[in-house]
Amino acid sequence: MSLVKRIGILTAGGDCPGLNAVIRAVVKSALRRNPPIQVVGILDGYSGLVEDRTQPLVESDVSGILIRGGTILGTSNRDNPFNFLGASNAKPRDRSKDAVNTFHRLKLDGLVAVGGDGTLRCALDFAKLGIPVIGVPKTIDNDIGGTDVTFGFDSALAVATDAVDRLHTTAESHHRVLICEVMGRYAGWIALHAGTAGGGDVILIPEIPYDIKKVCESIQHREKRGRSFSIIVVAEGAKAIGGKMVTQGSYRGADKRPRLGGISHHIAEEIEKRTGDEVRVVILGHLQRGGIPTAYDRWLATHFGVHAVELAEQNLWGQMVALRGIHFGETPIAEAVGKLRRVDPQGEGVRTARAVGTSFGD
Ligand code: F6P
Repeated sequence: MSLVKRIGILTAGGDCPGLNAVIRAVVKSALRRNPPIQVVGILDGYSGLVEDRTQPLVESDVSGILIRGGTILGTSNRDNPFNFLGASNAKPRDRSKDAVNTFHRLKLDGLVAVGGDGTLRCALDFAKLGIPVIGVPKTIDNDIGGTDVTFGFDSALAVATDAVDRLHTTAESHHRVLICEVMGRYAGWIALHAGTAGGGDVILIPEIPYDIKKVCESIQHREKRGRSFSIIVVAEGAKAIGGKMVTQGSYRGADKRPRLGGISHHIAEEIEKRTGDEVRVVILGHLQRGGIPTAYDRWLATHFGVHAVELAEQNLWGQMVALRGIHFGETPIAEAVGKLRRVDPQGEGVRTARAVGTSFGD
């Protein structure tokens, strides 16, 4: 087994509460191994590897960052080295060789890639070029396969639930329908959990296409029972039966991934038309990714960071750290990527929400 002396760490994709907690855990625990493992921070995701922008990380760099949102290393979602766009407006091109050169110039033994599905896919592609990688699953969407949970989700959930709680005040006072649109891309975890925790009357998620007639019926049913307001929690990826997801154009870059958002305005218009109720919309957007990570996310991120270093020290490359049940372990990155973990429409989460009268518009 070769001795691991130096590892790199990067944070890529959308920022998310808990990234700094992972960086801190990696640096602190690596420096405490016997012999110590040095850590190099790679700036702005894979861009730093392509453009050779890095900084050594020592204990003082990570002290005090546990509770800070964002990432001290910076991040990017236009940095796939195999299709690199970077800050330029030029056509994307393959800069993976530059990234590999930086890795070798820095004399790294391995790379810890902290990110979501796209970041982990990239890590796999690097593994194929002989770069030893460890993945750490991050995303507020909570949709990565191979782990029960990703860090960032709990913090986003806290923001979304707080928003739903606050919206109750206006909804109730003004006898309105309030729609709260949350993120999550193709998975409805944030909407389902915030809707359940905040007592949403209707929850709309991508996994259960809705019928607007049914949504209106549940609002009117409440009105008949004297409840003259309703709260709808809708995931940005929700869609009507036979309809499409609402998008705001697409990301720049070769893959032209759609940017989701705005479904709540369509739903509001339909409800006003069909019921005559007054409807208001709140789109939470990036508020869900900002601010101080919750205690749970700090705890999870710290475990993930420490476990990533343990895997690196044991030369267990190609693995992603994971939490299953109450145990931390690992799963091959190859098995985790591409397996979008979505809400089971027949699962416990949905059944529980239905049991307390929540409508899914179906
Ligand atoms: O994947 C995290 C996420 O916040 C999604 O929920 C959302 O659709 C997307 O990223 C937004 O990304 P951006 O900040 O690049 O617009």
